[in-house]
Amino acid sequence: MRQLTLPFDTPIYLKTSPIVTAHPLSHDGLCREDARLNLETQYAYLLEESDLFNRRVVSFQANKTETLHSWIKYREGFSAQLVETLFAELGIQPGHTILDPFAGSCTTLLEAKMWGVNATGIELLPHCHLSWQAKARAFDYDIDELVQIRRLVQQQTPPSTNAVFPHLLITESAFSPETEQELMAYDQWLAEQEFSADTHLLCQALLMSLLEEVSYTRKDGQYLRWDGRALKIKQRNQQRNQQGKEPIQGIDKGDLPSVKQAFLHHLNRVIQDIVELQKQPPPTSHQTVLEGSALDILPTLKPNQFDAVITSPPYANRYDYTRTYALELAYLNVGDAIFNLRQQMLSCTVENKPKIDQLQEFYLSLEREAEFVKTLNVVQTNPVLNEINHALQIRNQEGDVNNQGVLGMINQYFTELTFIFAELFRVCRSGAHVAVVNDNVRYAGEVIPVDLLCTNLAEALGFEPVKVYVLPQQKGNSSQQMGKFGRRPLRKSITVWKKP
Ligand SMILES: C[S@@+](CC[C@H](N)C(=O)[O-])C[C@H]1O[C@@H](n2cnc3c(N)ncnc32)[C@H](O)[C@@H]1O
Repeated sequence: MRQLTLPFDTPIYLKTSPIVTAHPLSHDGLCREDARLNLETQYAYLLEESDLFNRRVVSFQANKTETLHSWIKYREGFSAQLVETLFAELGIQPGHTILDPFAGSCTTLLEAKMWGVNATGIELLPHCHLSWQAKARAFDYDIDELVQIRRLVQQQTPPSTNAVFPHLLITESAFSPETEQELMAYDQWLAEQEFSADTHLLCQALLMSLLEEVSYTRKDGQYLRWDGRALKIKQRNQQRNQQGKEPIQGIDKGDLPSVKQAFLHHLNRVIQDIVELQKQPPPTSHQTVLEGSALDILPTLKPNQFDAVITSPPYANRYDYTRTYALELAYLNVGDAIFNLRQQMLSCTVENKPKIDQLQEFYLSLEREAEFVKTLNVVQTNPVLNEINHALQIRNQEGDVNNQGVLGMINQYFTELTFIFAELFRVCRSGAHVAVVNDNVRYAGEVIPVDLLCTNLAEALGFEPVKVYVLPQQKGNSSQQMGKFGRRPLRKSITVWKKP
């Protein structure tokens, strides 16, 4: 385990420069922007640029070489280093209890485990749970058994099988027929070996972790990108050819490893990490990851129990995790449940339907209708969100919005987040800090200051704003936005609030 003195006794703020917006928030001043500009002025004192939080640390990039965290890639994750820095900054100590309601690959929970901090996570998607279960057992695996598996895989070839990959419509032809056969042969063969339950789980997680690598797909934010060799692309191009259309240019992933090569590569890495980790186990602590939607689970948790929250919700950027991780979800046999998972996600895609009626019913069933009404009122009367909603409607009338679903998505995103923040307030102890990593976004030339708007909503719910760390390098825009509305740097921030 790495050593770190908790909490930092030196200040971590390197630079102070209020990063108040100097650019217009509504392109060409088409729509009202005073509420957003007022917000920038009101919270200018909170904004602080810090080199400690750079793009590498705030993304999964810094985890790629990290012991344990690198086992299963999660592009949407933040890094262990970020969590450690926040532990120091928020004064989180062994024995404390923290929460991450959007746990993802469970970076927060794993770091908690390393430092003897108790933690609860909530996560909707099943592949994240397998990833957590495999990594959380790092101190329990029987190394001899893992070495035995490695020898077995090196020396033997699994018998062929009739088992087929449980494809979803969107994953069909993601593998070459040979790769798919090899994958299923390993899947079945490893499951049949007489190993412990922990080792079986690790093998399943490793097979899941190599799916993208051996496939004709590449994860790319909103979608899976496809290699031109995939049958799906070939068939589509035949059709396009008949219609006199240009063929789709698939990506070229070059030579792909075999399942055996990829499995051994991952297993070697994992064994090395486990050998090192087991030399120095961390102090005892407890972590639990609850499966389901944070909107449903948070209201059922006991009040006043957490010393801090470290989290990163999905960004309001239309990325659909159920599409990006379709291969992993298919492998875990989710089948048609994928549609329900997609709808249960915090609204961040244009396909998400409003959840407000369901929420109302749920709060009613908990006999907490008054809280439902109060929270809804906070979001519905927020002048900044109202200004943004109105601006997007005008942009839509002007024909600037390329998908009308964005209008609903943005309103739902902040409505649902407000319910999350209200619950965080309830489940946190007095004095607890909440740190939220998020990106500002822009649609149809309208800047949405996610960091400050969330801070504003959190303040209306009772939190005290503490700080908004801004990454030194701001985010660019999609090529579509740049082409039409020019480049407009957007903040990537970590907001920190405190329950008084
Ligand atoms: C930005 S990622 C978090 C990544 C995490 N910090 C990590 O290091 O891996 C957001 C996560 O929220 C999850 N999520 C989305 N909607 C959810 C919901 N309603 N309830 C619980 N989790 C949800 C997504 O599946 C995704 O894993």
